[in-house]
Amino acid sequence: MKGVFICIEGLDGSGKSTQAKLLTKKLCKAGYPAVFTAEPSQGKIGKFIRKRLFEQERLPPTVEALLFAADRIEHVQTIIIPALEEGKIVISDRYVHSSFTYQGSAGLDLSWIEAINANAKTPDLSLFIDVTPEVVLERLKRKKSVMENLPNQLRVYEIYQKYVTRGELRRVNGAKGKNEVLDALYAEVVCFLKTVKP
Ligand code: TMP
Repeated sequence: MKGVFICIEGLDGSGKSTQAKLLTKKLCKAGYPAVFTAEPSQGKIGKFIRKRLFEQERLPPTVEALLFAADRIEHVQTIIIPALEEGKIVISDRYVHSSFTYQGSAGLDLSWIEAINANAKTPDLSLFIDVTPEVVLERLKRKKSVMENLPNQLRVYEIYQKYVTRGELRRVNGAKGKNEVLDALYAEVVCFLKTVKP
């Protein structure tokens, strides 16, 4: 497999989706074969999950975790692997760490969430756009999903920090301006690409 698999993580409202798309464009403009994708995916399970996210109540946490893991397997098989086989740089807006943090925030055992995601392809690089829960909730003007309340975002944030400390996520300061955050993400990615593609 010739491609490179990069994931962008962060709280809802951290600017993650906008930044992941801008990063893909910036890489393409610089001549890198980058493609954008996201989770929940555009597949059947992903669409079902998105619909449920705006309903009144969260699904039982174990069901939620299994649905996201199932969507991920489909996403990997139908989108990510084929793109990597074509030598693309795949930029995914959310991936396994979203399950560890969001489903972990519902009280599930992290090792169980990791186990049900063990067959999902390991990313080459995962970046965490760090914006605090208080700031993101202030920023979110849209209709909030079942995930977007302060106590939940605080728990999610805390678990993200755990993975930053473990070295699985590289932290990028998301509190800066849009262009500065993009430049920081771009610099991380280009620096990483140099290590894998000399
Ligand atoms: P989005 O706002 O980035 O489109 O993501 C939709 C929501 O789905 C967001 O609140 C985080 C949540 N989510 C999980 O709870 N677990 C997961 O594994 C993924 C990929 C997303």
